[in-house]
Amino acid sequence: MPGRERFEGRVALITGGGSGLGRATALRLASEGAAVVVADINPDGGRETCRLIGAEGGRALFVQADVTRAADAEKMVAETVEAFGRLDVLVPSAGVGAGGTVVDVSEQDWDRVVDLDLKGVFLSCKFAVPAMLETGGGAIVTVSSIGGMQGKGGASFCAAKGGVVNLTRSMAIAHARQNVRVNCICPGWVRTPINEAVLKDPERRAKIADMHPMGRLGTPEEIAAAAAFLASDEASWITGAVLPVDGGYLATGP
Ligand SMILES: NC(=O)c1ccc[n+]([C@@H]2O[C@H](COP(=O)([O-])OP(=O)(O)OC[C@H]3O[C@@H](n4cnc5c(N)ncnc54)[C@H](O)[C@@H]3O)[C@@H](O)[C@H]2O)c1
Repeated sequence: MPGRERFEGRVALITGGGSGLGRATALRLASEGAAVVVADINPDGGRETCRLIGAEGGRALFVQADVTRAADAEKMVAETVEAFGRLDVLVPSAGVGAGGTVVDVSEQDWDRVVDLDLKGVFLSCKFAVPAMLETGGGAIVTVSSIGGMQGKGGASFCAAKGGVVNLTRSMAIAHARQNVRVNCICPGWVRTPINEAVLKDPERRAKIADMHPMGRLGTPEEIAAAAAFLASDEASWITGAVLPVDGGYLATGP
């Protein structure tokens, strides 16, 4: 693992940082020197992530926020700048999974999934970009999914995650000359609370693992490593990129 210097002096905001991929990314960035703001709707998870970072000697602050609400998204960015003086990295990881065909999905459920998985990313970026511009730029790593690149998954989930991919590209172009890089990762299946209901069954877990050419699920740390790379200066000429982190899943074709 690279030393602490990659994010020394940088400030990162991770939404959904109270669990799963967001927590692993928060821990990874903190381990490389970033001061981290963990934003989550769930205070227990968010505070636990901050405790874990503190136990390793890192700096972290929890901000309770529902990223589907503009006022909360604005507040989490304002509190980040107030606490640490700047914002360099945003990873909007808060999200939900969802199954169901377009016929099965209720209007209410569609709104719930698209509000969090797509609008939550929009709102987080809407307030983060101006804060980044205050100090000369920054990096955003959005979290789509293999379901954002092909259609094997719930209708609302695939629609929202496909939206995240193209929102990433649009933001990357719009802010390229302002030194804000925007990239997207598309994780394959990683066992976290989001999909525990499906993956707790060993037979289903084995079947799903087998859908990935590498024959296994990913780990939160493997997703965090990719997010950290794209957020770091090592990716200084990478923007608008969509990176599968999926054990080869998307290589099997749409
Ligand atoms: N785990 C996977 O297999 C996988 C695969 C592809 C993509 N993803 C994506 O990765 C992201 C993170 O997923 P995860 O596996 O870490 O899930 P998770 O359930 O472990 O974590 C999601 C976090 O988001 C928080 N959250 C939920 N609603 C929120 C809201 N309105 N405002 C703020 N925070 C909210 C939850 O409290 C939780 O801490 C999601 O966008 C998900 O779609 C996950």
